[in-house]
Amino acid sequence: MGILEVKNVSKNFGGLKALNNVTLDVRENTVHAIIGPNGAGKSTLLNCLVGKLIPDTGSVMFDGQSVLGRKPFEINQMGISRVFQTPEIFGDLTVMENMLIPIFARRDGAFRMHAIESVAHESAVLEQAEKMLIDMKMIDKRHMHAASMSRGDKRRLEIGMCLSQEPRLLLLDEPTAGMARADTNNTIDLLKQIKAERDITIAIIEHDMHVVFSLADRITVLAQGTPLVEDEPQNIRGNPKVREAYLGETA
Ligand SMILES: Nc1ncnc2c1ncn2[C@@H]1O[C@H](COP(=O)(O)OP(=O)(O)OP(=O)(O)O)[C@@H](O)[C@H]1O
Ligand SMILES: [Mg+2]
Repeated sequence: MGILEVKNVSKNFGGLKALNNVTLDVRENTVHAIIGPNGAGKSTLLNCLVGKLIPDTGSVMFDGQSVLGRKPFEINQMGISRVFQTPEIFGDLTVMENMLIPIFARRDGAFRMHAIESVAHESAVLEQAEKMLIDMKMIDKRHMHAASMSRGDKRRLEIGMCLSQEPRLLLLDEPTAGMARADTNNTIDLLKQIKAERDITIAIIEHDMHVVFSLADRITVLAQGTPLVEDEPQNIRGNPKVREAYLGETA
C-alpha cells in the first residue's frame, strides 16, 4: 500500500491527452522519482495531486483519503506540500518574512499578505521560523531580500517553507532546474538530510539523472502521459524502453 495511490488518472486539455490512465503508488518513507521527456505530463500529474487541477477520470488517495475535490490549502493541511517548477517565493520580502508565510497559512488556512505583519511579532511564530532557517542553514541570510539570493538558496528557502508545514509527503517539481553543479550537489545533500531526519516521503520530478540516481528508491518513467516503467534505479538505467523514450536512443 502506498501513502499516495494514483489510479487510472486521465487529464485532457482539448484534444491533447496530457495524462492517459496513470496508475502509480508512492510507498511511505521512500524517495520516488518521476522522470520523462518534456511534455510527458509530469507537472500535470503533480497539479492533480495538490488540487490545482481536477482529473477527468480516476482517483488520487493520500493516506486512505481522496484528495480530489479539495482545495489546495486543504490538501496542504492533509500533509502534502509542494515545491513548484517555477520558484514561488516573494522576491521583495526578506528570507525571514518568506518563512513566516507558510507558518501563518497553516494556522489560518489561507495566505493574506497583510497578516504577515500581525504574526511577525508573535514569539512562537518567530521561533518556529528561526528554527527552520537554522535547519536550512540560512539563518545568516534572514534579513536578505529573497530576490537577491542564488537559485540554490531560493530553492533551499522554498523547501524550508514547505517543511515548516510539517508535510508527510513533499512533492518537488524539478528542484535543481537551472542550477550550477555546486548548487545541485548542495540540494542533493539537503534532501538526503531531510530524508534522514524526518518521517517524510518525497516524490521528485527531475531531469538531471545525477540527482535522480543519487536520491531515488524507485523511479517511474512517464512518456506521453502514460507510465512506461516503474522500477528500482538499477533496473531503469539500462532499460531499452527508457533509453528510447527518454534519452532519445534506440537500444
Ligand atoms: N493548462 C494547460 N492547457 C493546455 N495544455 C497544457 C496545460 N498544461 C499542460 N499542457 C500540455 O500538457 C502536456 C503535458 O505538460 P506538462 O507540463 O505536464 O509536462 P512536463 O512533463 O511537466 O514537461 P516539462 O518536463 O517540460 O516540465 C504538454 O503537451 C503541455 O503543453
Ligand atoms: Mg513540468
